[in-house]
Amino acid sequence: MTCSAPTTPNGPHAHPRGLQRLGHLVLQSTKYQQALNWYLDNLGMIVSDFQYFSGQRERGPTMSFIRCDRGATPADHHTLALALGPANRYLHSAYQVCDLDALAAGGEFLGERGYLRSWGIGRHIQGSQIFDYWRDPDGFLVEHFTDGDMFDNTVAPGWAPPHRVGPGPVGTAGDQGLPRNRLEIGSPRTGFDGHRASW
Ligand SMILES: [Fe+2]
Repeated sequence: MTCSAPTTPNGPHAHPRGLQRLGHLVLQSTKYQQALNWYLDNLGMIVSDFQYFSGQRERGPTMSFIRCDRGATPADHHTLALALGPANRYLHSAYQVCDLDALAAGGEFLGERGYLRSWGIGRHIQGSQIFDYWRDPDGFLVEHFTDGDMFDNTVAPGWAPPHRVGPGPVGTAGDQGLPRNRLEIGSPRTGFDGHRASW
């Protein structure tokens, strides 16, 4: 993929030209399973990864990353993620950039405009995206990402226990505002449990 992010001998400019598209949205719902099933049943989306509360897998998932079913054509690991929570609300939206240089440049661009780094730069385990989260002064959370997994519709859902969000790989303090149940630990994709949350 050709990247349009400008660079200089000293590194990337603080310029957002490497931004490619809206990649995904993450929402919290008080009726998580009903919301998940609505997207599966009505839009034909499929699950890439489930998450469950530690020690309570038998009670079903509490978060899922879902993707578009494009048949044999690979699709983003998730276009939408849904999490169980105490309110119906936006959690974050994520914008794809072309490479790590563009990710860094995008962060510089936001930082110069009063955004505060929330978490990153790091790489997710489930989905494999290189990520960088930023909040605006009102707390609105956005993510830049690049180099995420692409799955066709033969890839079975993964299951993972929760993982406490900790320091980012570059020594950042992490973001206590991110949900504790965020997926960061992968599990083998053994067997096919089906996509529908029917527990
Ligand atoms: Fe995200």
